[in-house]
Amino acid sequence: MKIVIDTEAGTLERVGERVDPLLSAESFKTLSDLWVRVGWNQKYSYGFSWFGRPIMQLPEDMIRIQEVIYRVQPDVIIETGIAHGGSLIFYASLMKAIGKGRVVGVDIEIRPHNRAAIEAHPLASMITMIEGSSVDEGIVGQVRAQVKPGETVLVLLDSNHSYGHVKAEIEAYREFVSPGSYMVVTDGVMEYLAGDPRTTADWVWDNPRRAALDFAAGQDAFVLESPAPGHDEHLVDIRTTYWPDAYLRRVK
Ligand SMILES: C[S@@+](CC[C@H](N)C(=O)[O-])C[C@H]1O[C@@H](n2cnc3c(N)ncnc32)[C@H](O)[C@@H]1O
Repeated sequence: MKIVIDTEAGTLERVGERVDPLLSAESFKTLSDLWVRVGWNQKYSYGFSWFGRPIMQLPEDMIRIQEVIYRVQPDVIIETGIAHGGSLIFYASLMKAIGKGRVVGVDIEIRPHNRAAIEAHPLASMITMIEGSSVDEGIVGQVRAQVKPGETVLVLLDSNHSYGHVKAEIEAYREFVSPGSYMVVTDGVMEYLAGDPRTTADWVWDNPRRAALDFAAGQDAFVLESPAPGHDEHLVDIRTTYWPDAYLRRVK
């Protein structure tokens, strides 16, 4: 795509496609999508931490999931993919502020320095870490042992992002999601980055978004939705996100 931005004329032209007013919703979408793509290549999301631990997320995705967590008020958040632990600490801090809840994290390899830092964190008592592949039956059993009957549970999938792994994770973790709560399938943006540096062409289909879409189409207990923003003074509902089509809400 070739883009011509003319700040004097106030236009953004996608050459051969369309010309939009520069300050329009359409231009915001074009720039936002490009910003996400360039930012991914520049590892923009690697530059943040939460309460001292690196977190690999876009700040907008963190604000959006905070809106959902505050609305759902889960007793337990299960996340696959711990890495440095920043996201576990983030969810634990939200639950601490809400006044209830705990976090269960699963990772195939919890590096000793990450484990030590998470275990030394002031929020550590709210966090349980389980080491092993998220789709291993024994590991899913260990997760199950952390959840009490009747608890409200929200699940985030942020581990291996291949289509096959995410599809298997969705099937393995769907039992935990409470009606009205969500399974959040992160990093579907991979589909839109295919062909860029540090990607492979098969990301076009081999990605979490495809897994979420295919799962949603094959059953009726979960629906894919874009959760409503926390308040409504915005003019456009454009998501600057790594998590497109991520929110599977359990409806029954
Ligand atoms: C994108 S990082 C997680 C980032 C973290 N949630 C955050 O927001 O900072 C992905 C993690 O998934 C883990 N992982 C990869 N394959 C896995 C598997 N089969 N089961 C569980 N974890 C896996 C990796 O070891 C890595 O730490």
